[in-house]
Amino acid sequence: MKVGILTGGGDCPGLNAVIRAVVRKAEKHYEDTVIGFFDGWKGILEESYEELTIEKMRGTLPRGGTVLGTTRDHPYMSEGGPQLAKEVCKRMGIDAVIVIGGEGTLSCALEVHNDELTKIVGVPKTIDNDIAATEMTFGFSTAVDIATEAIDRLHTTAESHDRVMVVEVMGRHVGHIATWAGIAGGATIVLVPEEKFNIENVADSLQRRHDAGRYASIVVVAEGALPEEGTLELPAPEIDQYGHQKLGGISQIVASEIEKRTGFETRVTVLGHVQRGGTPNPYDRVLGTRLGIAAIDAVHEEEFGKMVALQNGSITTVPLEEAVGTLKTVSPDLWATAKNFFA
Ligand code: F6P
Repeated sequence: MKVGILTGGGDCPGLNAVIRAVVRKAEKHYEDTVIGFFDGWKGILEESYEELTIEKMRGTLPRGGTVLGTTRDHPYMSEGGPQLAKEVCKRMGIDAVIVIGGEGTLSCALEVHNDELTKIVGVPKTIDNDIAATEMTFGFSTAVDIATEAIDRLHTTAESHDRVMVVEVMGRHVGHIATWAGIAGGATIVLVPEEKFNIENVADSLQRRHDAGRYASIVVVAEGALPEEGTLELPAPEIDQYGHQKLGGISQIVASEIEKRTGFETRVTVLGHVQRGGTPNPYDRVLGTRLGIAAIDAVHEEEFGKMVALQNGSITTVPLEEAVGTLKTVSPDLWATAKNFFA
């Protein structure tokens, strides 16, 4: 078979592990040709690609990012895009495309499948871990490692200066990174998009904790955390070329309100893309490898319109419809666990 592969949306640690695994099994076991399209769907539309081989993939397992490059471009952005994508795949003799992406990229993959532009197998990825129908996305564990290490480091400087440290982590619609890193790092308070916060309550909690003789506090804020209606004015968000809100900055507002309301000296750390860059941890390398092997198997089993997923510790396939449309939020029991430690 001739199998295409592309990475779309934001990058994340473990993408190369997936690509490497697909290429390994495709070449060695199935004797396929694997075509790596550059920069997401753009690579199909612009016929920008290279043949991937085991030899070419050597040394990529520990590397962060994606050797294929990535963008948020997709065929449905222009009028003739879908037809062009179909023509290119047909002309090149592409039998199926393995699409590695987050919610946006996989939603597009479902549309491509339904419109029969080419045959699709999806692979979920995002550091946010918000894709439904899979227990865990690769990249998330590495991001939690990075955020936890940052919180550990902030504890000592916070204690030395008796300060409040507000740490902003990624998490556009969900607070998985904030909750996990908050629990692992012993945060005083965690603010997540799933539960709107009241800044007055946050300030009161910190005040109570300090009055009780504890000093220095770590407040972890997911970038998508929102205040309760009418409690805090937020500036209108900037929008990027794909219509995505540019997040980042909620921690500055939270920090200045804490300082204003409590008088405690407060500092901000925004971890940003540090959480997405660099080498994947062993868990993400293994998960990416398992999903890559399963994806090429799914192509040969003709499980098109499906996504490979982790469920009950095993790799399985699920219809793409189950994976897109709704996001996986932080489970109530994990959130309840986290709350036991809030000030
Ligand atoms: O979706 C993953 C994510 O890392 C979000 O947490 C974050 O808001 C977004 O990507 C940032 O995207 P960009 O790299 O386009 O700024």
